[in-house]
Amino acid sequence: MGNRFGKILIVAVCIICFAAVGAAFAQKKVGGGDVKYEGKTQGAVLFSHETHVNTHKAKCAECHPKVFKTKKEMKLSKADHSQPKYCATCHDGKKAFGLTAEADCAKCHKK
Ligand code: HEC
Ligand code: HEC
Ligand code: HEC
Repeated sequence: MGNRFGKILIVAVCIICFAAVGAAFAQKKVGGGDVKYEGKTQGAVLFSHETHVNTHKAKCAECHPKVFKTKKEMKLSKADHSQPKYCATCHDGKKAFGLTAEADCAKCHKK
């Protein structure tokens, strides 16, 4: 009896450990996580580290520290949209959709 109870206890402890480790991994954010820019007239822009690093396979060093600092401080004006800096380093209409075509505004700006 005692032996069987011991086995059940071990199994139960293992299940709890796996669940805890799983939850920790699920919550671990990629890089700087989601970075949200509030916008004004055009609507907020969400930058996702998750999609850029995991889906689009961008390396940290492609963006940090040359294009962006590793803290949220970018000021991207409307005039900057046609300059090859910040997001437009890649979002140039070739490597990724650009910042100047009307049809693409809503891919970044969500009202
Ligand atoms: C690759 C993503 C991206 C695309 C595409 C894009 N923008 Fe932006 N835009 C931004 C980011 C990021 C900011 C900075 C927002 C902030 O700092 O609050 C910004 C800021 C702005 C601003 C100044 C802030 C505001 O909301 O008034 C305007 C105006 C603007 N964008 C208009 C446009 C228009 C028009 C288009 C399409 C022709 C466009 N943007 C396409 C990312 C993008
Ligand atoms: C496609 C470009 C890109 C890639 C790749 C990228 N980042 Fe970022 N990261 C950004 C941007 C944009 C910001 C916000 C910068 C700003 O507003 O000035 C940022 C901000 C951060 C921040 C600060 C977040 C905050 O809220 O202050 C950290 C930490 C960070 N990145 C770490 C990483 C790490 C680690 C990797 C690689 C796993 C990585 N980043 C890959 C674009 C990128
Ligand atoms: C290192 C290159 C790189 C930089 C820098 C970069 N992006 Fe991207 N981004 C991509 C690629 C590649 C895609 C896939 C686009 C496509 O299929 O045309 C993408 C897709 C996106 C998408 C579509 C949704 C998604 O997450 O897949 C949004 C929104 C976006 N980027 C916003 C931004 C913003 C805002 C910035 C600047 C803060 C930025 N990106 C900087 C490479 C980059």
